[in-house]
Amino acid sequence: MNSISTRIVIESEISAELDREIRSLLCECFPADAGEFSQQRAWHNSLPAYSVIARDDGNLVGQIGIVQREVRVGGCLLLVAGVQNFCVRKSHRGMGLSRDLMRIAMAEAAAREIPFGMLFCLPELEKIYVPMGWTTNAAVVEMRDEHGSRTPLPDKNITMIADLTPQRFPDGPIDLMGRDW
Ligand SMILES: CC(C)(COP(=O)(O)OP(=O)(O)OC[C@H]1O[C@@H](n2cnc3c(N)ncnc32)[C@H](O)[C@@H]1OP(=O)(O)O)[C@@H](O)C(=O)NCCC(=O)NCCS
Repeated sequence: MNSISTRIVIESEISAELDREIRSLLCECFPADAGEFSQQRAWHNSLPAYSVIARDDGNLVGQIGIVQREVRVGGCLLLVAGVQNFCVRKSHRGMGLSRDLMRIAMAEAAAREIPFGMLFCLPELEKIYVPMGWTTNAAVVEMRDEHGSRTPLPDKNITMIADLTPQRFPDGPIDLMGRDW
C-alpha cells in the first residue's frame, strides 16, 4: 500500500484525461452501468463537487465522488455530501483503501461545513459502511423525476447517513429535491 497516493480534485480541475481514466475505472467496477459510464461520469446528470482519487504507481485504483445537494427532511432544508460512484479496482480491494477514500471525502465535507453524508446502496453493502460510521436510515425517501414529479427511491436501495458534526440528522421523510445520485 506504500505506493498508493490519494488526492482531492475539485470538479473544475478534472482534466479530460482524468475524466476518461475515472470513466474507465467506473466501467470496470460497475459493469452493469458501463454503457452510461462510457459516455459520462455524472449519474442522473449530477456532477460531483469534488472527487477523491487513489493512484498506485500512477494508475487510478479507486475513487469517490461527492455531490453537494440540498435536501428536505421533514420541514428542514439540509446540505448533504452525497456519495457517488464509490469504487476500488478489484486488484486493490480488501486493503482498507475504500475506508481511506471515505475518510478523506467526509473530512473535506466537514471542512466545507456540510453536516451530513448521504448514500444509497444495496442492503448487502451496509456492512462496508457501518464500520466507517454510517447508519441506516429507514425514513421514506422520494426523489423527483425528470419532470419534477415525486417518485419513491427504488426499493432495491437502502439509505445511509453519516453525521459529520454534533448535529443529529432529523427524523422525517426525505425529499431529494432532484434525482438520486
Ligand atoms: C465497495 C468497495 C468500494 C469496497 O472496497 P474495499 O474496501 O476494497 O472492500 P472489499 O472489496 O474488501 O469488501 C469489503 C466487504 O464488502 C463485501 N463486498 C464488496 N462488494 C460487494 C458487493 N457488490 N456485494 C456484496 N458484498 C460486497 C466484500 O465481500 C467484503 O466482505 P467481507 O469483509 O465479509 O469479505 C469495492 O468492493 C467496490 O469497488 N465494489 C464495486 C463497486 C461498488 O459496489 N461500489 C459501492 C456502491 S454503493
